[in-house]
Amino acid sequence: MERKEAKIAEAKGKLGVLLPGLGAVATTFIAGVAAVRKGIAKPIGSVSQIGTIRLGKRTDNRVPKIKDFVPLAGLNDLVFGGWDIFEDNCYEAARNAGVLDKDLLKQVQPELEAIKPWKAVFHKDYVKKLDGKNVKTGKNKMDLADQLREDIRKFKSENNLDRMVMVWCGSTEVYIEPKDDIFKTLAAFEAGMRDDHPSISPSMLYAYAAIAEGVPYANGAPNTSVDFPAMVEFAVKQGVPVCGKDFKTGQTLMKTILAPGLKARSLGLRGWFSTNILGNRDGEVLDDPESFKAKEVSKLGVLDYILQPEVYPDLYGDFYHKVRINYYPPRGDNKEGWDNIDIFGWLGYPMQIKIDFLCRDSILAAPIVLDLAIFMDLAKRSGMHGIQEWLSFFLKSPQVAEGLYPEHDIFIQLMKFKNTLRHLKGEELITHLGLEYYD
Ligand SMILES: NC(=O)c1ccc[n+]([C@@H]2O[C@H](COP(=O)([O-])OP(=O)(O)OC[C@H]3O[C@@H](n4cnc5c(N)ncnc54)[C@H](O)[C@@H]3O)[C@@H](O)[C@H]2O)c1
Repeated sequence: MERKEAKIAEAKGKLGVLLPGLGAVATTFIAGVAAVRKGIAKPIGSVSQIGTIRLGKRTDNRVPKIKDFVPLAGLNDLVFGGWDIFEDNCYEAARNAGVLDKDLLKQVQPELEAIKPWKAVFHKDYVKKLDGKNVKTGKNKMDLADQLREDIRKFKSENNLDRMVMVWCGSTEVYIEPKDDIFKTLAAFEAGMRDDHPSISPSMLYAYAAIAEGVPYANGAPNTSVDFPAMVEFAVKQGVPVCGKDFKTGQTLMKTILAPGLKARSLGLRGWFSTNILGNRDGEVLDDPESFKAKEVSKLGVLDYILQPEVYPDLYGDFYHKVRINYYPPRGDNKEGWDNIDIFGWLGYPMQIKIDFLCRDSILAAPIVLDLAIFMDLAKRSGMHGIQEWLSFFLKSPQVAEGLYPEHDIFIQLMKFKNTLRHLKGEELITHLGLEYYD
C-alpha cells in the first residue's frame, strides 16, 4: 500500500520547555541536558536521543536513530523555565534534591543558577505536606490561570522562542475524581474557574493556561489535570496535543515489562505484592493518604489491563495486588522497590519471583521528561492534537479516548510508538508477520 508522509513543520528555532515544579525530577532533567550539551555525560535512557527505528524489511538494513528519522528539536535548542513554591534557583534545588553528585552539578552551575522559579499557583489543600512562599495570589482561579498565561508569553518573548511545551513535574496532588458537572464541558469548567470551584486543582490551571496559549501539555504526576472531557474539548479546539499521566519509572516499569511475559507464556498469577521505600520530597508528599490515593489508582490499574482476568479466568481470575509506598528519609531519591510475585505453572504448581530494584527515581524519570517534551513538540508540528495515546510508552496510567481501555503492555506501547513515527513519515508499518522471507 502506498503510504503518504504527513506534513511536519521544521524544528527550527528554540523550543521552550515549561516545567511546573522545579524539584528532583525537573532539575535532574535540566542538569542532565546541560551536561550532555557539554559532552560530560551521555543521554542514557532517552529514546529520542539514543533509540533507533527499523524501517522496511529486516534485510534492508535501515535502522536510523529516531532523531535522524523524524525532525526533532535538538538539545542545543531547548530553553528551560518553570514555577515552584520555593524560591531556590535550579542549582540550589538540585543540590537539595541530592540526586546528582556535587562535581557534576558544579560543571553546570551557571546554567542551573540562571533558572529561577516564577511564582507558582499553589494551595495547600491540594498538596497537604508542602508550604512555600513563592506563590501567586489572584481574585479567582481564572485570574490565576491568566497570570500563568502571562508568564508563558513573557518567557516566549524574552527568549525569542519559536515553540513551547509544558511537562508537569510538580508534586502529586490529592486524588480528585473528575465527576462533577464542571469537568464535562469547557464552558462549565471555565465557569467553575471563575467561581473558585474547590475541585479545580492548581495543576488543572497550568494545563488550562498551556492549552490556552497553544502549548502542548504532558502530565508527569498521577493526579487529574488534563484527563477529563472539558480539557480534551479545549485541547481539540485549540489544536494542542495533551498526554498523561505519571512517568513510567521504577516498579511500574518493571511490572509492565514482566507481566506481559508471564501472560505470553500462559503462566498464572496468585498475587503481586509491591512495596517501596523512598526518602525524597516526593516520598514525603506521598506519605499523605490523599496524594497516595492518586498514586495508588495510577499504579493499580496496570495488572488488570495487561492480564485481562475476564479473558483468562483460570490464570488471572483471582489474584491479589497490593502496592505500598513508605517514606523512609535515609534513602533520599535512591528508592528500593520490592516485588513478591506468586505465580503458578503446569498443573497449578506454585512458584515465586522476587524483585529487589535498587533504583534511582529521578534518574529514571529525567529522560522521560526530555522524551515527552521532544515528542509532544513533534506531535504539534505534525498537526496532531488532543490525546496522544502513542506516548503511553512513557506513562504509568495512559490517558486514552473515552470508552477505550488503556494499553499498559510496554511492548505493545513501543510498537504503537514506533509505528506512529513510521506512519508520520509514510513508511511501511511493521507487523512482524515476516512471511515474505519464506516465499
Ligand atoms: N521520580 C520518579 O520516578 C517519578 C515517577 C513518576 C511520577 N513522578 C512524579 O513527578 C513529580 C515530581 O517528582 P519529584 O521527585 O521531582 O518531586 P519533588 O518533590 O522533588 O518536586 C516537585 C516540586 O514541585 C513543586 N510544586 C508542588 N506544587 C506545585 C505547584 N502547584 N506549582 C509549582 N510547583 C509546585 C514542589 O515545591 C517541588 O519542588 C511528582 O508528582 C512525582 O510523583 C516521579
